Amino acid sequence: MNTELLRRYLAYFQDLGIRELYRRAPAPQSPAATNETPPLLEAQDASPASLLLEEEPEPPAETLEQIRADLGECTRCRLHQGRTQIVFGDGNPKAKLVFVGEGPGADEDAQGIPFVGRAGQLLTQMIENTARREGIPLLRSDVYICNVVKCRPPGNRTPEADEIEACSPFLFRQLAAIRPKAICALGATAARALLGTREGVTKLRGRWYRWRGIPVMVTYHPSYLLRPYNQNAKREAWEDLKKLFHYVYD
Ligand code: URA
Repeated sequence: MNTELLRRYLAYFQDLGIRELYRRAPAPQSPAATNETPPLLEAQDASPASLLLEEEPEPPAETLEQIRADLGECTRCRLHQGRTQIVFGDGNPKAKLVFVGEGPGADEDAQGIPFVGRAGQLLTQMIENTARREGIPLLRSDVYICNVVKCRPPGNRTPEADEIEACSPFLFRQLAAIRPKAICALGATAARALLGTREGVTKLRGRWYRWRGIPVMVTYHPSYLLRPYNQNAKREAWEDLKKLFHYVYD
């Protein structure tokens, strides 16, 4: 690790109030802990109908390119009026883990890539630093990152229900195409779109749910963690990511 990276790595954990930064050998885990399956079915997927659907043969998967082409120069909702460009998604199309945010901000709208602004830089740090500390070789480029809505809401407001309804089928198709081992819902909008719940993140976080059979972990949105008084939430998000990473990569 170069000095600048090391400095940022240390600052990140100091910010979490963590001072012990020696590298432990990975603790031996019981098979039960290693292969732990997330508790089944919470939120809307708990219906018997969804269990039946899980057993139906999967339709042939689309590619992300096909989905992007179908999205086209989208005008399906009013968000197209203020956008510079559509922000479709970024990362490994075969990722084992997908992060879902809310919608692009100004930097993402300008660059066409999700999570590249301040919240995005924090997300990248959270992914890479947490993984490194857990002994998991994981870079941002190994996961896939996308949003519930693909166009920037004006003034970064929360997307409206009809905007989410117009755009979420594309998110669902992205998830079905990638078929990751787990999904991380960043914040309430992603949790609502994936789980159909209006429950707040404080209640939902740290536990497993399912979207079409795929385990979903809910955690805080990085923008929320950027607010100075949310020290405790940062530690909780760190715990959530550790749980998620060990499930996906152990
Ligand atoms: N916030 C989000 O929810 N998504 C982004 O891409 C950037 C910030």
